[in-house]
Amino acid sequence: MGDSRGVIAEDGLAPVLLAVTGGIAAYRACEVVRGLIKADVPVQVAMTRAARRFVGETTFAGLSRRHVLTDDPDPNDPIYPHLDAARAARVMAVVPASANTIARLAYGLSDDVVAESALALAGRLLIAPAMNHRMWLHPATQENIQTLRDRGATIIGPDAGDLAEGEQGIGRLAQPDEIVQAIRGLLGEGSLAGKRVLVTAGGTREPLDSVRFLGNRSSGKMGVALANEALARGAEVTTILSNTVVRPNGGLQIDASTTAELEHAATEHAKTADIILMAAAVADFRPATPETTKRARTDAWSLELEPTADILAGLAANRQPNQLIVGFAAEDSEDIARARQKLERKGVDLIVLNDISDATIGFDADDNAVVIVSATDETRVAQASKRAVAAAVLDRVEGIRP
Ligand SMILES: Cc1cc2nc3c(=O)[nH]c(=O)nc-3n(C[C@H](O)[C@H](O)[C@H](O)COP(=O)(O)O)c2cc1C
Repeated sequence: MGDSRGVIAEDGLAPVLLAVTGGIAAYRACEVVRGLIKADVPVQVAMTRAARRFVGETTFAGLSRRHVLTDDPDPNDPIYPHLDAARAARVMAVVPASANTIARLAYGLSDDVVAESALALAGRLLIAPAMNHRMWLHPATQENIQTLRDRGATIIGPDAGDLAEGEQGIGRLAQPDEIVQAIRGLLGEGSLAGKRVLVTAGGTREPLDSVRFLGNRSSGKMGVALANEALARGAEVTTILSNTVVRPNGGLQIDASTTAELEHAATEHAKTADIILMAAAVADFRPATPETTKRARTDAWSLELEPTADILAGLAANRQPNQLIVGFAAEDSEDIARARQKLERKGVDLIVLNDISDATIGFDADDNAVVIVSATDETRVAQASKRAVAAAVLDRVEGIRP
């Protein structure tokens, strides 16, 4: 349990400002407030005018045990309640974040108590969008979200599935417990607070010519799940992304397409990492002489491949004091002895063994099932979401070095 009572400001203001905007998912913000209060994290709720049409402020006042900030202030309230709340908040979480408010925050408007607070915020901003899938996928919303992300906001969700209006698609609010965990992570409360975690995700691509490449089927979902879990545990996370279909909720993000780019970025960022999670599927071979223009159609094209650098072994050889390194191995069978040999050969602390012969798990799937192999034991993680598998991997890591 966190000790957020210790971080409550002297003037009684809360470290978390939870802004509720106008959407069907507003009722789920109640669960987020409850989750924070249960974890002893004081929370100040603010609501837009539209949000008050969905859930009454009395509910939020009761759950948070504080007056709710609205555009109809109580005459007995301080003169600048939004500025006071924004100054004290170490995290402002917009849950749910409507398309309208996402646009207002991206443009820096200050036309209500939520937008004013976001402009005056001294702490971190977390956005949990929820809306119809067409609203979410509209280029305007995507550009606005990217603007907020570029400014350092953490974006949680939205998830895909059934939407309230009876359609299906991406737009559901992320799970309230995941939002609570992410807020606590930003407060620096989690079990990895103060730790620097480096994650690689995705699959590298080696150019054959100016348009073609040699690649693999890794989507990056496992690496991104690891990054999100580490963020939620309060770590400072750097993720190196190789051609992923997803991106982490926050932290420093670096794009590296080829093995050489990945090696360069990983070597640089490994210098300051406490924990390294090498989940990316890195090419073992690359074309020896890639062509610089597009090769025209011919009868045949024989390729000569040369080995790429062994990044994992390189990092292990230059390991920083107390640094913990985890490698990932995708194999066609669950061969634990082989994984342990790899662990010893590369000089890493754990190997996460992924049996890719089952198509429902592993590459590009949403689920995974792994065996976490150490020099002396192995931990089986049965089929579960990649986020749950990421949690099991980090539990094992923390078991070695809390
Ligand atoms: C029944 C109903 C449900 C709505 N649900 C959403 C929603 O889930 N997400 C969203 O972005 N807007 C939704 N809207 C539209 C917003 O309420 C509207 O854009 C409003 O201006 C948002 O204001 P705010 O961002 O200041 O809260 C909904 C509107 C109605 C009438």
